[in-house]
Amino acid sequence: MEADRIKWNMRFESRESYLGERPSPFLAREILRIKDITPGLGALDIACGEGRNSIFLAQHGFRVVGLDISDAGLAKGVQRAQSAGVTVDFRRVDLDTYAINGTYDLILNFNFLVRDLIPTEIASLNPGGILLLDTIMASDQMLPARNPSYLLQPGELARLFDLYDGEVLILEEVIDADMPTARIMFRKN
Ligand SMILES: C[S@@+](CC[C@H](N)C(=O)[O-])C[C@H]1O[C@@H](n2cnc3c(N)ncnc32)[C@H](O)[C@@H]1O
Repeated sequence: MEADRIKWNMRFESRESYLGERPSPFLAREILRIKDITPGLGALDIACGEGRNSIFLAQHGFRVVGLDISDAGLAKGVQRAQSAGVTVDFRRVDLDTYAINGTYDLILNFNFLVRDLIPTEIASLNPGGILLLDTIMASDQMLPARNPSYLLQPGELARLFDLYDGEVLILEEVIDADMPTARIMFRKN
């Protein structure tokens, strides 16, 4: 939606770096295991923002497609990838309407909760492919400032992924933190 593009462009333009240049701690912690178990090196980063995770994956040998609605975020991603000496295929798309095509060995969905996208993400995995999802959970301190539909409920990830043919390799809920988060590593059969 155009309103999302404008909102996120303003956020990305307001600071040198909105979410930092380092990869997500979950991705950084698990990268060696991920490389070991993914059936290949094709990766998709859903709502990649300024590209911190896409670039990290490219540095680890993945061929990465990064999708996002914000041209300001993607422009930073292109520059950072260039500085890091890697290539990422950044594409500006609106995930409200975009049809993901192709299949991937690894899909990241970090800090972008659209529950309806999960079935498409799983359908877009190759057999043995890995989906990593990591996002903010509802809590007393988060709720006043946030739209509750963008926050995971306790136990929700387990329920959402129970529907699919595959294995949950990691499921964590970190409640006792300034920003409670939940994360999952799912392998498709
Ligand atoms: C909190 S940021 C997360 C960025 C990245 N996943 C990360 O963890 O560094 C949310 C991202 O969702 C993107 N976004 C919001 N609505 C979108 C839409 N409809 N289509 C594609 N991207 C969208 C924003 O531009 C922003 O980059």
